[in-house]
Amino acid sequence: MTKAWVLAGILVIAMCALTPRGGAQQKQKKDAAVSGQKQDAGAQPKGTKDAAGHEWFNHAVFYEIYPRSFADSNGDGVGDLKGITSKLDYLQHLGVGAIWITPCFPSPQVDFGYDVSDYEAIDPMYGTLADFDELVAKAKAHNIKIILDFVPNHTSDQHKWFLESKSSKTNPKRDWYIWRDGKDGKPPNNWTSTFGGSTWTLDPTTGQYYYHYFYAQQPDLNWRNPEVRKAMLDCMRFWYKRGVAGFRLDAVDTLFEDPDLKDNPILPGLDKFGFPNEHEIYNKKLPEVHDVMRDMRKLADEYDAVLIGETWTANVSELRDYYGEKNDELQMPMDLMLTQFPKLSAPQFREHITALEDAGGWPVFVISNHDIVRSYTRWGDGKNNDQIAKLAATMYMLLRGTPIMYYGEEIGMENNDPKRKEDVQDPQGRRGWPKEIGRDGERTPMQWNDSANAGFTTGKPWLPVGPNFKTHNVATESKDPNSILSLYRKIIALRSSEPALREGKYVELNGGDPNVLAFARQDFGGQTVIVALNMSESAQSVKLELGKVAAPSARAATLIAVGAKASPGDSATISLEPYGVYVAKIDSRLR
Ligand code: NOJ
Repeated sequence: MTKAWVLAGILVIAMCALTPRGGAQQKQKKDAAVSGQKQDAGAQPKGTKDAAGHEWFNHAVFYEIYPRSFADSNGDGVGDLKGITSKLDYLQHLGVGAIWITPCFPSPQVDFGYDVSDYEAIDPMYGTLADFDELVAKAKAHNIKIILDFVPNHTSDQHKWFLESKSSKTNPKRDWYIWRDGKDGKPPNNWTSTFGGSTWTLDPTTGQYYYHYFYAQQPDLNWRNPEVRKAMLDCMRFWYKRGVAGFRLDAVDTLFEDPDLKDNPILPGLDKFGFPNEHEIYNKKLPEVHDVMRDMRKLADEYDAVLIGETWTANVSELRDYYGEKNDELQMPMDLMLTQFPKLSAPQFREHITALEDAGGWPVFVISNHDIVRSYTRWGDGKNNDQIAKLAATMYMLLRGTPIMYYGEEIGMENNDPKRKEDVQDPQGRRGWPKEIGRDGERTPMQWNDSANAGFTTGKPWLPVGPNFKTHNVATESKDPNSILSLYRKIIALRSSEPALREGKYVELNGGDPNVLAFARQDFGGQTVIVALNMSESAQSVKLELGKVAAPSARAATLIAVGAKASPGDSATISLEPYGVYVAKIDSRLR
């Protein structure tokens, strides 16, 4: 290690110690190692930290796989574990360090796996436990870690625990779920399900209602019961022992309900299913959630595992709570707020990114997932869609934090929404049609090539492939150096090879610009990468505030320019075509 790097390491440690609420940054380790070498983030062993106190998950690119839709190895039209295993070379080449697989446990598939009927097995539709073990082992050989999706809020109504619980009022598992008497022949209170209708369903066997925040087939567990806590933590342990590197935790906001079941205040208007809007103060984000997060974290720490939260929050301060007051809850609560921005807008994105940066903690921005319209469709303008996808890729991969890509994002997959109610698979869409069309559109088969069914299956795919599969697929885009996929590969490689992008702080540039989002990433060793993204449909010329991050004489070397160029002899002045993207590295020593 050179002297300069040792010095850089000491500086980083000093800076981190001074950060008031620095999330992972506050954690130090005696065996800190500083390296400016290109690193494969997935290869960083679990439990080791670098000079900034960062662990493997701070550096890895995560990739979400919806197993039904990724790769089908047996021609039944539904993806499976062997299909995922067969694509590990592709994922490694892309630069992925961890894959999050949405639930693949036995399930009646009412909510496509989010209704789990056995937490310690694999649904035969996806394969066997032996297939899972093979996936873990082969992924390890590819430096890819496996993250499973844990559903703590509810089970399937076919889970043996619920079948026992509903069998009689005196069954020992009765209190594992939330059972109550009705009121004058009506449900116990006014709470409505996020999937439509009352959260209460009457069970004729015992004459009581059970509570379900989601579908009636997804009864909520009673997390106030210590036996439930123990049983669920044991399920997590089962998978840790099989080699999983962490969990994405589903629906953590709704783990607890007010024990007195007070009515929620009613808000004006109706929800998508025609029921009154409510302010969910009595069945969402109750403080007890944090006790469970701490328990799960303690267990995760035993295995050097990471916890990712499905944390829907209205603002940054709510999100901040999920890291824990002592950073002892989730290492990666997802910031899902960017997905609510309907269009690109430099001021709106800038404001949000700055707010998150100011809050401390390690950012986990999300731009797409299996519940949200794909970013390609959401942010596309119908004219510059590919260019916009490249802009989104650059922003997403180069912001500070850990990205969680959604499968197909890297090739510009778009939503393929059902046109007729009879074609809808997602019950949410069948129930809410036409106001709520469901989530089929963002769950269509991965587009591997331009053959029939996009190479996803030899059978009939469970959902029709997207309309752009002939042009937007892995095989075609791999051959094109200017494709969205080629840009993703390049930019992910850059993320891991540039120390400023791995560890560097975020510095806002040109904060008042209404069209161009510009920022720098700067590490303590004197390296800086600058990024300028034209979020408008018209050409822009921008003079970047390089003085904020470099000496006046600094020169920048272009790393990526798509629809952009710097003025000859003036690294700060950049011309950007509509949605143009510019990334450069400043070489000089910094102020
Ligand atoms: C969030 C999951 O992402 C979604 O797909 C599911 O329907 C609900 N939680 C219920 O588990």
